[in-house]
Amino acid sequence: MAGFDSLLNRKLRGKRAEDEWESQIDHNHLPQHIAVIMDGNGRWATLRGLPRYAGHRAGMSALKELVTICGELGIQVLTVYAFSTENWKRPAEEVSFLMDLLVEYMERELAELHHKGVQVRILGEIDELPLLAQQALHKAENVTHGNQGMKFNIALNYGGRREILKAVRQIAQQVLAGEIKLEQINEELVSCFLYTKDLPDPDLVIRPSGEQRLSNFLLWQSAYSEFWTSSVLWPDFRKHHLFEAIVDYQKRHRRYGGL
Ligand code: FPP
Repeated sequence: MAGFDSLLNRKLRGKRAEDEWESQIDHNHLPQHIAVIMDGNGRWATLRGLPRYAGHRAGMSALKELVTICGELGIQVLTVYAFSTENWKRPAEEVSFLMDLLVEYMERELAELHHKGVQVRILGEIDELPLLAQQALHKAENVTHGNQGMKFNIALNYGGRREILKAVRQIAQQVLAGEIKLEQINEELVSCFLYTKDLPDPDLVIRPSGEQRLSNFLLWQSAYSEFWTSSVLWPDFRKHHLFEAIVDYQKRHRRYGGL
């Protein structure tokens, strides 16, 4: 009974926090593009005496909720960092679990995402992922390709430096082939060679779990993004955390280097 009471109290507290933050949101001044570094799954599990994979599974639930809320709020672009080019250094079992979880996520969520008009896109090198994951991701991209709702990008086998390097190589190739002149290389042109070529830069980058770094995420695109961090671990990230981040973002004065 005590356990039930505390669960109920936690839910009530969460709902109160949600209402409080939500009432402060200016819906005419929402960030167009929100990017999230989903960090802290491992620590969340360890704190509970659970294996790390339990944290990733709980992280998947938090992701499902985030996608729903962002869609309801009318956020135009949501990008989440799910697997970096550096995450291959993890034990093979954890990598394999994450790949299987990704397939499971797509199998469970694709119909609903499509129904809601969400357009799924993968940022990163898909062809280096296990075949089943590649198939699930291509299917998600193909099925939702024409959707006009929220653009939902999943950064997978993604690294910001690698993305920039790839763009530099492609531009150099086109210069060598005489298709681009050196003078034509500017910021707009470089942006056109990134995975995010037709998307606005993120306005707000959220990183839970207390870490305060970008970890190779959207390095070019986040040049002028507002950064919001919190000690909450990703699996515990709820609606009210997102609302709090948005309210904080809306209080900031973005100067882009000007006065
Ligand atoms: C970082 O936390 C998280 C990851 C490397 C994986 C993110 C994956 C999910 C949220 C699962 C759902 C995603 C999809 C696309 C199905 P960490 O493990 O590094 O945490 P730690 O820093 O506490 O160890």
